[in-house]
Amino acid sequence: MSITTIVGGQWGDEGKGKIIDHLAESASVIARYSGGNNAGHTIENEHGKFALHLVPCGISWPNTKNIIGSGTVIDPNVLIEEIEIINKSKLPGTIYISEKAHIIMPYHVILDELEEKFRGKNAVGTTGRGIGPAYSDKISRSGIRMVELLSPDSMIEKTLKNLKIKNEIIQKIYDGKKINEKEIINTIHIWAKNLSSYISNTEEIINKSINNKENIILEGAQGALLDIDHGTYPYVTSSNSIAGGSLTGLGIGSKDISNVYGVFKAFTTRVGEGPFPTEIFGKDADNIRKIAGEFGATTGRPRRIGWFDAVAAKYSAQINGLDSIILTKLDILDHWDEIKICVSYELNGKKLSNFPTDEKILNKVHPIYENIEGWEESTFNLDSFEKINENAKKFLNRLEEILELPINVISTGPKRESTIIRQKL
Ligand code: GDP
Ligand code: IMO
Ligand code: MG
Repeated sequence: MSITTIVGGQWGDEGKGKIIDHLAESASVIARYSGGNNAGHTIENEHGKFALHLVPCGISWPNTKNIIGSGTVIDPNVLIEEIEIINKSKLPGTIYISEKAHIIMPYHVILDELEEKFRGKNAVGTTGRGIGPAYSDKISRSGIRMVELLSPDSMIEKTLKNLKIKNEIIQKIYDGKKINEKEIINTIHIWAKNLSSYISNTEEIINKSINNKENIILEGAQGALLDIDHGTYPYVTSSNSIAGGSLTGLGIGSKDISNVYGVFKAFTTRVGEGPFPTEIFGKDADNIRKIAGEFGATTGRPRRIGWFDAVAAKYSAQINGLDSIILTKLDILDHWDEIKICVSYELNGKKLSNFPTDEKILNKVHPIYENIEGWEESTFNLDSFEKINENAKKFLNRLEEILELPINVISTGPKRESTIIRQKL
């Protein structure tokens, strides 16, 4: 029995979906603990290719319970569409939605867009999915939770009360377009009809599973550097994406967690605005973006590209309490003659080995690189460590040395089977 948290170690899109789909074979519960449909988790297996935004990535395995936990925020329109695709594709897992998860209402989506416009050149570059405004309402205690869908009349009453204030803000502050009451009432009825049967006491389900000593995967979304407290604030998302978020986001105790694994790309990407010390530009970045298909699974935006940042990764290992590393996209480095790892930062001639909190400083640091010779041999789709080229092994060994953590899993392609398990998890 083990309870394993799988957390993004960088700025998201590390390949969490692919890894969780692989590891879920031996799990009975897979539970998402934070974020919403800002996430896009890609899985590719015998059922096809899917970009999951809300439903956990264990859904392709029979006898799995896939929980969308209390720490998430849910746009019911997106979830209904996702469930439709899952049912059509006959993905065999079962879906449970926490009663306590907050709902992304239509006014949250509109406000996300209007707030971003208002920020102008300081925009965060959000996914525009209403994430920030929904979490703001949760914290200010005016949010609406999934449990409300079980009594639509009282939900409508609460929503209309909220709508009065939201419409004032939309119209008077942002000069936006009023949301129609009738439309929102109809929408609530559609949501209730489609989603009520999935709404459950998910804390009870997961804690029962813990007591039964089953294998459980806690699915992170986004990445540690996008965490609301520990990420590159204000260029972050609005929830606790680090491993710690799994406890509050699912209602379980810390003593129950067996392992925390951090998923990292062999290089770095970032979508949206904010500091990115190892970012590369121009043709090099364009090439890698194309080869690696680095375009957002949710918004389709081109992802910013950079070298592996070991300063940020060490910080991430610390704030997540990582036990080991899962390294993805090793195959993409096949296309580089020389590979760089950022081992420290420099600012005004001084070496910084810690990850700075102040975004003004992080924006100014110069990365100090260690160079590793590339390999002119494909690692694509390899499934055993022995088959990997010696130079690629050197790269992996060096990363382990710098990060002081073992790399237990290596991913060499988007498909489930393109995975090297060095140590059984
Ligand atoms: P997530 O948000 O962390 O689940 O990651 P995304 O799904 O947004 O982005 C990762 C992308 O990389 C997806 O298109 C995956 O299919 C792909 N991918 C994952 N692992 C690998 C790998 O090892 N090699 C390659 N070439 N692609 C991968
Ligand atoms: P997965 O789970 C990459 C980024 C957005 C933006 C910032 C805030 O697929 O790794 P938000 O809409 O959350 O208010 O946007 O966070 N962001 C992600 N970047 N992967 C994600 O999820 C992300 N979810 C949010 O691009 O910079
Ligand atoms: Mg993603």
